[in-house]
Amino acid sequence: MDITILGIESSCDDTSAAVIRNGVLLSNVIASQAVHVKYGGVVPELASRAHQQNIIPVVDTAIKEAGITADKIDAIAFTRGPGLLGSLLVGVSFAKGLALAKDIPLVECNHLQGHVFSHFIDMPDREVAHPAFPFLCLLVSGGHTQLIVVRGPLEMEIVGTTIDDAAGEAFDKCAKVMGLPYPGGPVIDRLAKEGNPERFAFAKPRVDGFDYSFSGLKTSFLYTLRDHVAENPNFIEENKADLCASLQKAIIDTLLNKLIKCAKEYGIKDIAIAGGVSANSGLRQAVAEACRRRGWRAFLPELKFTTDNAAMIAMVGLYHYNRGEFTSLDIAPSAKM
Ligand code: KG4
Ligand code: ZN
Repeated sequence: MDITILGIESSCDDTSAAVIRNGVLLSNVIASQAVHVKYGGVVPELASRAHQQNIIPVVDTAIKEAGITADKIDAIAFTRGPGLLGSLLVGVSFAKGLALAKDIPLVECNHLQGHVFSHFIDMPDREVAHPAFPFLCLLVSGGHTQLIVVRGPLEMEIVGTTIDDAAGEAFDKCAKVMGLPYPGGPVIDRLAKEGNPERFAFAKPRVDGFDYSFSGLKTSFLYTLRDHVAENPNFIEENKADLCASLQKAIIDTLLNKLIKCAKEYGIKDIAIAGGVSANSGLRQAVAEACRRRGWRAFLPELKFTTDNAAMIAMVGLYHYNRGEFTSLDIAPSAKM
């Protein structure tokens, strides 16, 4: 029997809806919110309002692009959290309303599990290789940096996490002090390609176990800028590419170091990366190369599944659906999960 799931994602600043049938992607529509660019970061109140404007056309388009009608949907999967409460509320309320109107079940999903599940989305026109259990997933986004041992569908253990800033946050905050637009990650990625990654050295975090820290690196980056700008006011402009390349290398080295240690400790040879920062070209190359050298398999998500999207949520929803795990209409969003 065919199972068709509508996914809804609204945890941060992307409104997204997607349709999957038996795990195969039929549509994945994402409306990004340009309103935050001029503030240099996501403004929660503005994000909620933009979700409210976007949600109906985005869901409508996802259903149309999937070539189905709303009565073909078997369940609605939505992001319950973690995320911004006002943003989540829009998606959760919409999902409830549609479920009630169509008399179909609701399935609550964890946003972070969604990023991991981006590795299980099948495409209609080609085979996609999936990691085998157990695998190790480095989840790197604007809000999270986690090492997750994935033992089975929905059986995930977080074995390392950031104790301060997330990797994406480090990219975004350092970009901001260089006067680059938000989000800084993709801009630094682009500029780094022209720069010398060995030009500047920044403080390396010393944190036990598999936890991460990026605030020391950020401070060290700020001090480097401050010292040089005191002597030459045009320092940033003249050295932008080298600064970006060196910063990106420092972040990648930090991420990779613990990823490899962790894989060795757990004896895992299937390595995946996920989340917005997994779009970073330097990180993708470095992970692919590190795995190749050791005879491990590297799983790099398609770029469209790196940043927030509803396809990954629909995928988590399918697993819950198959287990008969449904959510009642009195569910509330949850900022932390
Ligand atoms: O997963 P995501 O879309 O949202 C969260 O759940 O946080 O991740 C957004 C983060 C931002 O910090 C953004 O700068 C970063 O992903 N990002 C990148 C790249 N593309 C997005 N960071 C580095 N290089 C990129 N190419
Ligand atoms: Zn995310």
